[in-house]
Amino acid sequence: MVELIKNIEKLKHERNAVILAHNYQLEEVQQVADYIGDSFYLSKIAAKIECDVIVFGGVRFMAETAAILSPDKVVLLPEPDAGCPLADTITDEDIRSLKRENPGAPVVCYINSSAEVKAESDVCCTSSNAIKVIASLPERKVIFVPDENLGKYVARQLPDKELVLWQGCCVTHAKVKASDILMMRAKYPEAKILVHPECVPAVVELADFVGSTSDIIRYAESSDAGVLLIGTEVGVLNALRISRPEKQILLVHPGLVCPNMKKTRLQSIFEALEYNRHRIRVEETLAEKARHAITRMLEVS
Ligand code: 13P
Repeated sequence: MVELIKNIEKLKHERNAVILAHNYQLEEVQQVADYIGDSFYLSKIAAKIECDVIVFGGVRFMAETAAILSPDKVVLLPEPDAGCPLADTITDEDIRSLKRENPGAPVVCYINSSAEVKAESDVCCTSSNAIKVIASLPERKVIFVPDENLGKYVARQLPDKELVLWQGCCVTHAKVKASDILMMRAKYPEAKILVHPECVPAVVELADFVGSTSDIIRYAESSDAGVLLIGTEVGVLNALRISRPEKQILLVHPGLVCPNMKKTRLQSIFEALEYNRHRIRVEETLAEKARHAITRMLEVS
């Protein structure tokens, strides 16, 4: 492993490359990353970083977003099959029919979506800025895709808006049930419960804090609670184990492991840099349209 890390560092230097890693990535991937964070943070980095190559420790829509924002750079996704089942629930044709059914309503797409879906949307958002982005729109009725749970969370925060929702969900977050939270609360009455807004509404309602993966990490790091119960993917525990080793940090459900996020390993990062694979390209006409929705999000937030 030490040898592999050394080789990756050497290739990074030779190729003027940076490695971006999502909070859900394996610890070994985060170890070689230059930037680690949530979807919003990584998209901001991808938009402004100066380098020739971006290696994305994450899933396809993240690398695609980086390629859209930085068309002059080589963007590599070490594991080409690392996808997002939530993003795959909706197509650009679905967006066009939603627009026909709801004339005049702007479309907000969660960043967990394809370039084609982004291209049909007015503005993009992530879990950390969804409320802000939707609140910024003058229209009352807004189409929000594809995460229904995040949409319901936003709708509760913005009662003046009418959200038209798509029935997509993250299969990993959907595993958590209200009964899991009640059981953990009974077992650890002093603990704080922190969940991602992709969890079902009944879970979100029982939590002490709701936020993106980086928001959860920040809240946990500054919390006085000795026990923290986490309702998002296990990867967020990596950062907390390093920064808050004295705390007891547990998942609210043992199944909070995203199989796609766990595909990327040090070996695949090395091979991506060594053999220039797997390059993510977004055709420029499509990228230009999709870029508009992402840039608008970056401006609003
Ligand atoms: P973040 O916005 O916290 O990065 O969430 C991304 C995601 O895909 C959650 O499952």
